[in-house]
Amino acid sequence: MIKLVATFCLLALFGLCNADIQADKLYELLKTKRSRNSPVPNGWSSPDEATNEYSPVYIAQQDGLAELDKIVTLPGQPAGVNFNQYSGYVTVNPNAGRALFYYFVESPTDSSTKPLVLWLNGGPGCSSMIGAMAELGPFRITSDGKSLFRNDYAWSNVANMLFLESPAGVGFSYSNTTSDYDHAGDKNTADDAYIFIVNWLERFPQYKTRDFYITGESYAGHYVPQLAYTILLNNKKTNQTVVNIKGIAIGNAWIDDETSLKGMYDYWWSHAVNSDATHDGILKYCDFANETSSEMCDKITDKAWDEMGDVDIYNIYAPICLTDLKNASSTGSINVFDPCWEDMLIAYLNDSAVQKALHVKPTSWSTCSDVLTAWNDSPVTILPIIKYLIENGQRLWVFSGDTDGRVPITSSRYSINALNLPIATAWRPWYLNKEVGGYLEAYQGLLLITVRGAGHTVPSYQPQRALTLFSSFLGGILPPSS
Ligand SMILES: *[C@@H]1O[C@H](CO)[C@@H](O)[C@H](O)[C@H]1NC(C)=O
Ligand SMILES: *[C@@H]1O[C@H](CO)[C@@H](O)[C@H](O)[C@H]1NC(C)=O
Ligand SMILES: *[C@@H]1O[C@H](CO)[C@@H](O)[C@H](O)[C@H]1NC(C)=O
Ligand SMILES: *[C@@H]1O[C@H](CO)[C@@H](O)[C@H](O)[C@H]1NC(C)=O
Ligand SMILES: *[C@@H]1O[C@H](CO)[C@@H](O)[C@H](O)[C@H]1NC(C)=O
Repeated sequence: MIKLVATFCLLALFGLCNADIQADKLYELLKTKRSRNSPVPNGWSSPDEATNEYSPVYIAQQDGLAELDKIVTLPGQPAGVNFNQYSGYVTVNPNAGRALFYYFVESPTDSSTKPLVLWLNGGPGCSSMIGAMAELGPFRITSDGKSLFRNDYAWSNVANMLFLESPAGVGFSYSNTTSDYDHAGDKNTADDAYIFIVNWLERFPQYKTRDFYITGESYAGHYVPQLAYTILLNNKKTNQTVVNIKGIAIGNAWIDDETSLKGMYDYWWSHAVNSDATHDGILKYCDFANETSSEMCDKITDKAWDEMGDVDIYNIYAPICLTDLKNASSTGSINVFDPCWEDMLIAYLNDSAVQKALHVKPTSWSTCSDVLTAWNDSPVTILPIIKYLIENGQRLWVFSGDTDGRVPITSSRYSINALNLPIATAWRPWYLNKEVGGYLEAYQGLLLITVRGAGHTVPSYQPQRALTLFSSFLGGILPPSS
C-alpha cells in the first residue's frame, strides 16, 4: 500500500511545484514501494489468465448526448474556428456517481477519415487539459489567462484529438462517492479509462471502428501502456465494443523505476547540474534496483537536488515564471512558450464562463488533483506490458524532449535497453526545415525518437517538431533523414 500525502503534486513527475516538493513526493512514492515485482506487475492479471472470461463493463445509452456536449464557443476564442469541439462528462460508475470529463477536438479537414487519438497527461493526478491548452491542442492561452489564440501546429491538424481527465478527482472529473479518492491507483485508472472509452464510442458511434491510438507523457508512461493492455484484453474477452487500437506513443515517459532514476541522475551530472563528487556518491551509495533506499543514498540524492538550484527541472534551459499574472500581457506566441503557463491555465479553466462553455459544474479547477489522498498501486516497471504490446503488433513510439531533466532521454534509453530489442534502423538524425529535429533509433517493434530543444512537455517547446513526429507516428513512417 503506497500512501501519499495529498498535496499539489503526488508523484510529481510533472512540473507543477517547486523542486523540493516534487522530490519529496517522488521519493515518498518510490520509498513506499516494497519489493521488485514478478514479471507481471501487481494488480495486472497475466494475459493467459485473463482470456475468455466474459466480464461486461457498464455501458449506458448515449443517444443525443454528443449534440449536448457540442461547444458553441470558448470564451476568448479567436475568430475563424473551423472545427467542432465537444466536452462533458461520461459516467463510468452510476452507483458511485463517478464521471470523467473529456474535451474532444475534431480535425478541421477530413475528420471522418482521420484517426481518433486519446491524450493523457501524467502526475499521477494531473489534468490532460495541460496537454489540450499548453501543449498540443488547437488553442493556447494568452499570458493574462483570459483568451485563446490558435496553435498552428495542433495535433488536431492530423487527427481527431480526445483529452481525458483521469482518474476521477483530477480536474473536472469527479466522484459523488468521495471514498473513491482514497482508492486511486494505476489499476483503477486503467479500468475507468476503459469504461470511459467504450461509453464515449457509444456517444460518438461514428468513431467506433476508427483507427485508435493512445498518446501521453510523463506518468502516462504508466497510464498509456496499461490502458492499451486493458483494451487488448477486453477486446478478446468480451463481446462488447472492440476498440480498434493500433498503437501508442509516450513522451518523457516513466516506465521503469530503476532505469529511470539512474537515468535522471546521470543526466543531471552530464548536463552540468551536479558535481562529480555528488554523482560519484550516487553511483557508490544508491542501488536503484532495491526498492528500499539507504540513508546514505537519501543523503546524497538530497544533495543532488540542492545542487540543481532554482531551475525548471522539466526544461533545464528554459526561463522560470517570474511574472505576476495580473501584470501579464494579453498576447501570446506559439513560438515562445510562456513559463507562467500554469497560472494562465488555472485562471482560464477556473473561470465560470469557461466552465459553463465546457458544460461542467462549478469546480475549483487545478492542474493536479488536490483531492486524491493516496496512490495505491504503481508497478515498479511496466516493461512487461510494453513487451506484450509489441508482441501483439501495436505500434510503439517512445519520444523524448532532450532538455527535460525529470524523465530525461537517458532514462528512456536505459529503460528501452532493458528490453534488449534488436536494432532495425541505427541511430540517425531526423530533419525538419533543414534542421535536425532530433535523433531516432528503431528497434524491432519500438521506435525511440528525440526532439531537440524540447522539455518534458515536448509540444510546448517545439510545436512544429512535435507535430512532425506525431504525423510520422500516425503514418507509421520515420521522419525524414535529410
Ligand atoms: C452526482 O450527484 C449530483 C447531485 O446529486 C448529480 O446531479 C450527478 O448526476 C451525480 N453524478 C453522477 C455521475 O451520477
Ligand atoms: C454477449 O452479450 C450479450 C448481451 O449483449 C449477452 O447476453 C451474451 O451472453 C454475451 N455472449 C457471450 C458469449 O459472452
Ligand atoms: C536493500 O537495501 C536495504 C537497506 O539498505 C538492505 O538492508 C537490503 O539488504 C537491500 N537488499 C538487497 C537485495 O540488496
Ligand atoms: C506588477 O506590477 C506592479 C505595478 O506595476 C509592480 O509593483 C510589481 O512589482 C509587478 N510584479 C511583478 C511580479 O512583476
Ligand atoms: C477557483 O475559483 C474559486 C471561486 O472563484 C476559488 O475559490 C478557488 O480558489 C479558485 N481555484 C484556484 C485553483 O485558483
